[in-house]
Amino acid sequence: MRSLKNVLVTGGAGFIGCNFIRFLLEKTPDFTGRIVNLDALTYAGNAASLADIDSRFGGRRYFFEHGDICDRALVESLFVKYGIDTVVHFAAESHVDRSILGPEAFVKTNVVGTFTLLDAARAAWKEDSGGGFRQDVLFHHIGTDEVYGSLGEAGFFTESTPYDPRSPYSASKAAGDHLVMAYGHTYGLPVTMTNCSNNYGPCQFPEKLIPLMILNMLEGKPLPVYGDGKNIRDWLFVEDHNSAVWTVMRKSASGERYNIGGENEWENIRLLEFLIGVVSEQAGLDIEKVRSSITYVKDRLGHDRRYAVDCSKIKRELCWKRSVDFAEGLSKTVAWYLANTQWVDSIRSGEYQRWVEKNYGERR
Ligand code: NAD
Ligand code: DAU
Repeated sequence: MRSLKNVLVTGGAGFIGCNFIRFLLEKTPDFTGRIVNLDALTYAGNAASLADIDSRFGGRRYFFEHGDICDRALVESLFVKYGIDTVVHFAAESHVDRSILGPEAFVKTNVVGTFTLLDAARAAWKEDSGGGFRQDVLFHHIGTDEVYGSLGEAGFFTESTPYDPRSPYSASKAAGDHLVMAYGHTYGLPVTMTNCSNNYGPCQFPEKLIPLMILNMLEGKPLPVYGDGKNIRDWLFVEDHNSAVWTVMRKSASGERYNIGGENEWENIRLLEFLIGVVSEQAGLDIEKVRSSITYVKDRLGHDRRYAVDCSKIKRELCWKRSVDFAEGLSKTVAWYLANTQWVDSIRSGEYQRWVEKNYGERR
């Protein structure tokens, strides 16, 4: 098992990254190392998500570095400054709708940024003699199931499903994945990769379906459903994603990749109806009134119909399993948004309002 001492987390101020840092520092006693969080604090990054972690662990086991993963000189300096032996690469432009309206940032961060990190790791971890790498290092890449394209009514994505990305987001993520596997194959850089289905949980930016709907319900706003509402996603609680990532980082052989999923498929409209029940109960809203806010709007361009992940490999080989069922996870998520109004207010800046107008204004 790898020990992983000085871990560079990229994108640790975003949704999954901040939950990963919290998971390692609060819930993983066998991790005793240090975490360096490199994040550019784009609209999706929020240092407040880890304010309590910073005050408890800052300067000892947690370090925040504000910067861009495309900045080679900065990335190289962090490898030296902290003696980095592990990279967990979450940083990305992550929202499909934004990639449709502005793809350039996706190519920069998801392709050039991933390349920059890989190449800096290659230089930093090279053995002094021979062409090999230190034995105690690992580059773990966070991938998405969207690289596999869209399923029809049957079938699942396995690790050998051919890539078929169909949005600028998934195409840029696919390019990053290929670079990671190529650095493993060509140079022998110790790499692992996971491709996960849709996550939900605390601290998710409210441009994504679940937090957007929760907040719109609380504010009595329309609940915008794209197309016919019958697109299907496979949902997983964020902490279960992170426990899977940690399992792979510790136990997997180099060069391996694993799918992670919730085995929990929902049509968007059915999910929304379920969520309306949870929010109405916790917030004391009139459920019929909330239901009447469902509004079908113009579809997402190129909208993938169905994602469903076969995660039998990680279950079988590494003994990972989910621990949070959907009803429990949704209930925890809604409770978190109700309890953290300050966090919600802090991210709904002018930029967020402009995004809402740009994305939904065009769908009326
Ligand atoms: P997010 O958008 O919430 O957070 C992304 C973070 O990366 C932000 O903190 C942002 O500031 C930072 N960032 C963006 N560009 C950067 C740059 N150039 N340099 C440094 N930092 C930068 O994303 P998320 O939902 O937490 O997703 C994290 C990773 O997981 C992504 O790689 C995404 O593709 C993948 N993923 C997400 C999901 C999901 O359902 N959210 C599912 C599967 C895989
Ligand atoms: O599958 C993993 C992917 O899941 C990740 O790689 C992405 O980073 C993450 O954003 C997510 O992508 P989706 O496009 O599936 O997530 P999103 O929350 O944007 O949308 C989920 C579904 O809900 C999708 O079918 C579109 C639909 N939708 C979304 C929004 C924001 C609506 O119907 N209305 C909306 O307002």
